[in-house]
Amino acid sequence: MTDKALGDSKAIITNQPDIHEKLLDVAKKHLAHPSKKPFQSHTLEAFEQANQLVQAHQGEVILDSCCGVGQSTRLLAKRNPNALVIGVDKSAHRINKNDGQLIAQTATQQVNNYLLVRADLNDFYRLVKRANWPVSKHYILYPNPWPKAKHLQRRWHGSAVFPELISIGEEIELRSNWRLYLQEFQLAATLVDRQGELNEVVDQQPLTPFEAKYQASGQTCWQLLLR
Ligand SMILES: C[S@@+](CC[C@H](N)C(=O)[O-])C[C@H]1O[C@@H](n2cnc3c(N)ncnc32)[C@H](O)[C@@H]1O
Repeated sequence: MTDKALGDSKAIITNQPDIHEKLLDVAKKHLAHPSKKPFQSHTLEAFEQANQLVQAHQGEVILDSCCGVGQSTRLLAKRNPNALVIGVDKSAHRINKNDGQLIAQTATQQVNNYLLVRADLNDFYRLVKRANWPVSKHYILYPNPWPKAKHLQRRWHGSAVFPELISIGEEIELRSNWRLYLQEFQLAATLVDRQGELNEVVDQQPLTPFEAKYQASGQTCWQLLLR
């Protein structure tokens, strides 16, 4: 990644001034009627591969959802040597990107307690829930914001898989450069009695490439920690 690409990220532009007026209705509807959509075969196969490792590990599992190129997955694996860290992203291009520069920057190439999985989380979350993985911490770092009001249901808290997603992880940590996304998630989480704290990200080292990009562009990154 060049310095120019790092420092020219645009701030979020939205036509939504505040929490979406339909947020609670949409989240309540999904909580009352969890999705029964059939699973896609590629995600079923990917889950099976990850599940074998998880069942054999019999210890703490960290889930890094929307992991992109997996920089955060590797960093979390390095910081938590006893945990098994599973990074999931639907983009084969990102998952398979062996970005030597990023890996060198984070100097984490020697860790091996992680797995990067190409899968669609709309299915994967339901499979994790069904298999009752012992997830201690569930990260969702810089999810696609979908800032247009009409795209509420593409945000994770407006999605049909919200009931499963919100039940995975003793702790859930989301990060975004769009504070309103996290405020919405925080409000939706109260429907299942999960309380959250919303703060500025203060990490010295960026956890992900998107975080590095936003910080280099002078944007504030936000963190929502749910227990
Ligand atoms: C803005 S990027 C952030 C990537 C990384 N976490 C970072 O901060 O650098 C959002 C990522 O979410 C992934 N994603 C979006 N929807 C997904 C889904 N349904 N299942 C799995 N991954 C998804 C995208 O492929 C993309 O890599």
